[in-house]
Amino acid sequence: MSIHIGAAPGDIAETVLLPGDPYRAKWAAETFLDEPKLINKVRGMLGYTGTWNGHPVTIHGSGMGMPTLSIYVNEMIRDYGVKTLIRIGSCGGMANHVKVRDVVLAMTASSVNTPSTGILRGVNLAPCADWGLLNAAAQAAKDSASPIHIGGIYSSDTFYDERPERMEQLVRHGCLAVEMEAAELYTLAARHDAHALAVLTVSDDLETGEELPSEDRERSFGDMVEIALKAAFD
Ligand code: HPA
Repeated sequence: MSIHIGAAPGDIAETVLLPGDPYRAKWAAETFLDEPKLINKVRGMLGYTGTWNGHPVTIHGSGMGMPTLSIYVNEMIRDYGVKTLIRIGSCGGMANHVKVRDVVLAMTASSVNTPSTGILRGVNLAPCADWGLLNAAAQAAKDSASPIHIGGIYSSDTFYDERPERMEQLVRHGCLAVEMEAAELYTLAARHDAHALAVLTVSDDLETGEELPSEDRERSFGDMVEIALKAAFD
């Protein structure tokens, strides 16, 4: 057990998929893993461990936002020896050519602030994905029906933002999409010599206001789980 995770030692696999929503973790584990076993439910943050093609894998909620993800990722790496962490989540499309349903592989994640900002003491680290995972995910994503984009994203602390000028500058500097977790995930992976990647589906278009219809959400989420599993093990 760690402070926020009730799993027994050895109950969390070296490879973890991290959806924001704990019920997505349950659905993904029950849909994709053999013999999924509930290994955590502290504060309702569900985590399951099973196997995929014989490989042990854990699928565990990260919650929304960097502070929450940071707690789980710190404890997974330090207390459970996790080595590979793949976020599977949604993002808002920012760049013109990034459309609802597209898949974004986050090569880098810019931010104004993360829970690590104070720890870095003024250094502007460039949080980036693990190259091996990114390359493998790019290959795996070729099999998925959705268009894929690889590039920089923005990790925000503010879902309901009111600063269009910030978004404008980010797009000008090549940012494809916005979400709320990857920059801290990549920073923690760098600090602790782990491997990380964020695989994202565009759930809304910031420019047009278009949203992914709810009937499409499960299929898009399933596509991301497949890309993440193939990236980790194929
Ligand atoms: N902002 C931040 N995170 C998100 C968004 C958004 O518009 N859409 C999906 N995740």
